[in-house]
Amino acid sequence: MNSITSELSAQSRILDKDQQFVWHPYSSLSAPIPAYEVVFAEGVNLHLADGSQLIDGMASWWCAIHGYNHPALNAAAKAQIDKFSHVMFGGITHAPAVDLCETLVNITPRGLDKVFLSDSGSVAVEVAIKMAFQYWISVGKPDKNKLLSLHNGYHGDTFAAMSVCDPVNGMHHMFDQVLAKHYFAPAPQIGVDEPWDEDDIAEFSAIIAAKKDQLAAVILEPIVQGAGGMRFYSPEYLRRVRELCDEHDVLLIADEIATGFGRTGKLFACEWAGLPLTLCV
Ligand SMILES: Cc1ncc(COP(=O)(O)O)c(C=O)c1O
Repeated sequence: MNSITSELSAQSRILDKDQQFVWHPYSSLSAPIPAYEVVFAEGVNLHLADGSQLIDGMASWWCAIHGYNHPALNAAAKAQIDKFSHVMFGGITHAPAVDLCETLVNITPRGLDKVFLSDSGSVAVEVAIKMAFQYWISVGKPDKNKLLSLHNGYHGDTFAAMSVCDPVNGMHHMFDQVLAKHYFAPAPQIGVDEPWDEDDIAEFSAIIAAKKDQLAAVILEPIVQGAGGMRFYSPEYLRRVRELCDEHDVLLIADEIATGFGRTGKLFACEWAGLPLTLCV
């Protein structure tokens, strides 16, 4: 066997084993679609085992924001790995985490002055929801335990996160019977540069006024509803949401998993509306 044929047979072995042992996200267990085998990645490019290249236009589901194989990130990971890769954060701390939290406080919108670290977008959403519920329990209002979300919203695949995704197109309707029930307002319709019309917020405004005694928080994706269709909407909608949350004593959770760290042209999408924030994931 020459080296090209032996490489090709190694490739097909990996793909066979992939089909045998791996269940990929959002794929069918019984009829899996063959995956692409990546052997190297750099910048926006994925280099495949068969010698071809793909451009990863979705940045690894938003998280490879600086591109693959970034020298500064690689150097930081290599410098740390020989010291320790991880320690539990309960009662233990270390300089890289403290420095990261300080940087996050310095670059995020005003009002965010403490960081709770979590390990995925969905878990961040779970944590923010828990914080909102805990806040109302702590101030003696435990009945404020419902959430108000938007149609077309997407907030992740864990259970509390699923319960605030669009109930129809949020990919989780199969779990409808087991998810906590929350409130949904229509998705914003007015685009970023279009003239504002108060009708766009009318139903949201009616729901928050009617349900304020039950509502712990509003959760939304600021400026862009990502997985729900890359729907860009007016910053005025966000400003009105902020005002209504203040008026009715409801917390606001800004889910910047897809929009944060510069993806909308500002460091955080909330900055388009100049919002002060209490909870951001
Ligand atoms: C707005 C938003 N929130 C939450 C999540 C969930 O993040 P993760 O996939 O890291 O759990 C996503 C993922 O795409 C997202 O777009």
